[in-house]
Amino acid sequence: GQHDSSLLTGSVRDKYRINTQTSACHGHRDMQNFLFLKTFSFFTGKVKEFLRKFKRLLKMLRSILLILQSCYKRFVFMERVRLFDKTFKTLIPYGEIEKAIDKVAEKINADFSGCTDIPVLLCVLNGSILFTAELMKRLTFNCEIVSTKLSSYSGTTSTGNVRQVMGLTADITGRRVIIVEDIVDSGNTIVELRKILADKGASETYVCTMLLKPDACRKDITLDYVAIEIPNDFIVGFGLDYNEIGRNLKDIYVLDGEDGR
Ligand code: IMP
Ligand code: MG
Repeated sequence: GQHDSSLLTGSVRDKYRINTQTSACHGHRDMQNFLFLKTFSFFTGKVKEFLRKFKRLLKMLRSILLILQSCYKRFVFMERVRLFDKTFKTLIPYGEIEKAIDKVAEKINADFSGCTDIPVLLCVLNGSILFTAELMKRLTFNCEIVSTKLSSYSGTTSTGNVRQVMGLTADITGRRVIIVEDIVDSGNTIVELRKILADKGASETYVCTMLLKPDACRKDITLDYVAIEIPNDFIVGFGLDYNEIGRNLKDIYVLDGEDGR
């Protein structure tokens, strides 16, 4: 046992001796380590700085690309959306819709401001929801919203027979009613609505439509307020649908020609 421990202490001493011998060169090594660390941190700092700058450049390039992409989509190749089996391309961007609604609201305000009655805005569900909301925000006189739901379209064509699938949500007897429509196409819906309103005892009816397809409108009806006239093509967006989808699109899209109907 003793022999073993003396051996052990001997080996420890040997180790210590070695250590004290090498300690002579410690100063030199420290210096080396110090220089190495210094140059290392100098280079990592440089690399980090470079990466930071590179990242910033990438970010800038990305935003430039996004701007170019949106310009490209808007002006070179109109943005396209796919709804079920059909493709649509941008026809009227939201900015233009807004401006047209501004103008039409101005006209309605000029005609109705200062009125002593509370005119009814008749929202024709579902297509007119977005238009009614945007229009109402701009009206400066007191008005009330009443809704009804009519249906005539199936797919991309009018069936010709208009059904009232939901009655008026309030009594309009003796009230002035402004029909707020998304689009007047054949005019069947407006003719039917006017009949319903006369039947329910409206004192006067006016028609305000966001869109008008002039070629399609063969009925002899007077439209008091028209925001935008469009060609006779099937459209979607801003409330208008293709078999109930596409109403949420912010811009108005037209059926893409290549696709046919
Ligand atoms: P009208 O009775 O033929 O004038 O059609 C009126 C209704 O048909 C509108 O209120 C719309 O809901 C729908 N409609 C007409 N044209 C289009 C269209 O191009 N896209 C989507 N819906 C339309
Ligand atoms: Mg409609």
